[in-house]
Amino acid sequence: MTGELSPIDKAKFVAARRAADFVEDGMRVGLGTGSTAAWLVRCLGEMVRDNGLRIKGVPTSTRTAELAREVGIEVITLDEARWLDVTIDGADEFDGQLNLIKGGGGALLQEKIVATASDQMIVIADAGKEVETLGAFPLPVEVVPFGWKTTQALIEETLISMDVLGRSSTLRMNGSQPFITDEGNHILDLHLNRIGNPRQLALVLNQMPGVVENGLFIDICDVVVLGFGDGRVELR
Ligand code: 5RP
Repeated sequence: MTGELSPIDKAKFVAARRAADFVEDGMRVGLGTGSTAAWLVRCLGEMVRDNGLRIKGVPTSTRTAELAREVGIEVITLDEARWLDVTIDGADEFDGQLNLIKGGGGALLQEKIVATASDQMIVIADAGKEVETLGAFPLPVEVVPFGWKTTQALIEETLISMDVLGRSSTLRMNGSQPFITDEGNHILDLHLNRIGNPRQLALVLNQMPGVVENGLFIDICDVVVLGFGDGRVELR
């Protein structure tokens, strides 16, 4: 499954493989999105195929659903599962309180819904994702297409009074077209540099008309499984 991996891919793989140990027979498992989560899905697929592990997976994006089916994981919807035992997903940044920035892959809305519906959320990450203060990674905010420029202006205006360093934002593109999420929305990436109060910012953003969800995951993650390029794994 792995062949010769670069240090970054090895870090992602060892984190995913260690996190797969948390998955037990019969569990309903939220399957994250992104390159690290893809390793997890492949690891679980191998456990289904080789060890007879029986799980039901709830994917957080169409591309994760495709991969899960491809590797032999039974896929169900969140409405069929209702409640999940565990969700395992990647992150773009995490801090000492295990608050996260997610959404680099554009799947933050389904990811947050699925993680919140889980008894436990485990994040898998390479060591480069650990930060003291969130915000160097642009914060993704999912907005409805209708009036998105007005929503963007409202967000930028509001950021003036918040404990952040930057306040510019960009519409995420897919080539020459706006990126469209699985729910048919756009993503604004907020270039904040430093988020002093992520809890407050998450609440303020979600109160704005036009904002569907933001990429700050506060008090949702329980454990981070951190992988290193030399194959070491640490838990946070
Ligand atoms: C997708 C996400 C991803 O989990 C996040 O972007 C990390 O991705 P990767 O594992 O490829 O670094 O939030 O919306």
